Amino acid sequence: MVCVKISLNNHFNHFTASCWGKGVCVITEKVTFASVLDNPIYRDRDLLYKLLPPSGLLHRTEQKNELIMELAPILMNSAVSCVFVYGNPGTGKTAVITELMGELEEEAKKRKVSLTKAYVNCSENRTETTILIDILSQLNPERSYPRVGWTRGKAIAEFTKLLNDLKTHVIVVLDEVDYALKEGGDDILYRLSRVNDTVKSKVSTILISNDVKVSDYIKPKTQSTLGRVKVIFAPYTAEELEDILKSRAKEAFKKEVVSEQVIQKVAEIEASRGGDARKALELLDTCAKIAVARGLKKITLDLVDPALQTLEKDELFGLVSTLTKHQKLLYLAMIKTKASKFDSGKVYKLYREVCEKQNVQPLTVRSIRTFIVNLSELGLIRSEVGWLKDLRKKSRTITIDIDSATRKKLRKLIRDSL
Ligand SMILES: Nc1ncnc2c1ncn2[C@@H]1O[C@H](COP(=O)(O)OP(=O)(O)OP(=O)(O)O)[C@@H](O)[C@H]1O
Ligand SMILES: [Mg+2]
Repeated sequence: MVCVKISLNNHFNHFTASCWGKGVCVITEKVTFASVLDNPIYRDRDLLYKLLPPSGLLHRTEQKNELIMELAPILMNSAVSCVFVYGNPGTGKTAVITELMGELEEEAKKRKVSLTKAYVNCSENRTETTILIDILSQLNPERSYPRVGWTRGKAIAEFTKLLNDLKTHVIVVLDEVDYALKEGGDDILYRLSRVNDTVKSKVSTILISNDVKVSDYIKPKTQSTLGRVKVIFAPYTAEELEDILKSRAKEAFKKEVVSEQVIQKVAEIEASRGGDARKALELLDTCAKIAVARGLKKITLDLVDPALQTLEKDELFGLVSTLTKHQKLLYLAMIKTKASKFDSGKVYKLYREVCEKQNVQPLTVRSIRTFIVNLSELGLIRSEVGWLKDLRKKSRTITIDIDSATRKKLRKLIRDSL
């Protein structure tokens, strides 16, 4: 039997490389290009993940209403103070704000209110300078701004000058702002909250974060100038996820391909794991991919478990690839053996051996102890501190629950990435 790894990067009509590559599924049935492309499952796979689905965003009326109430003054010619949007990953924050920005722009056009918007993803732009340059290039697309080389002072001067020249309403969305706050500090927020005192444009700001503790990273001085409006995106319930999946499945799959029970099960699983619509869609998509690979005409209930396993393995591989070099060496030391339980002394010995083999200078016991805690926080290992009976002292026990096939793949992944 040939083991085929489905991770097609084709550019045919309804499969985009980015989505299809998500969730690699290992399938042992024989598949051909024709069988995949002529499958009876997908109608338009893109529509499963499209940020704004044609059928619209469900179950976010309350949040949309709150935001409309907050943003409406812009259409009456005044700037709004900063609005905070919080919620766990996959709860529709980016989607709802994107939809609302479109609606706001349309209404502004109708009412002849001059409005320009800038959307910045702060996981990509983490410093005040790069955020300002990103905003500048969106507000003034005719000019090409340098990606590097500008000092903070230069970026601020250009930003102020452009806002004075434009004399318009500007709405700035800083998405995933927690990245910028943790790494770049809160200067950008202070600047945006104060900018209206000094320029001829009117700037309104929306901050999106999935870390509710984001205000811990904002200095009291900045907090006092920011608005107090907070819009919370709660995790989706099973019923809400069910509706979302149903409406998106209707667009993405062929008629009657997916049963209510499958959608119900996927919705229940994801509701219990954090109410993330993105993950629910990925799980449903993985069920569909397995159905395609198996040449099935329908997505059946028995595909949910293998789909879950596939995704869990992918998450594990993704997580491991983000570790630092010595964290990888430590993890490699632990998964090299067949053992699934160690004490921390044994782990350090194994780690030193791996370092020696890789010709790397090992770190101290203390650093490794910290890494053990890190790996445990990431869920890669379990680590518990308890009393050792015979030694009469406390010791850390580390447990790893991974099957031998996955260990083998992880070992290769780590070795290749060192
Ligand atoms: N209410 C909804 N109806 C339909 N689709 C939704 C809904 N909420 C989220 N989605 C879909 O789920 C995916 C994730 O949504 P989105 O990117 O808006 O989440 P987010 O809250 O911004 O997550 P993150 O914090 O990870 O950035 C998108 O594909 C989006 O279209
Ligand atoms: Mg988002």
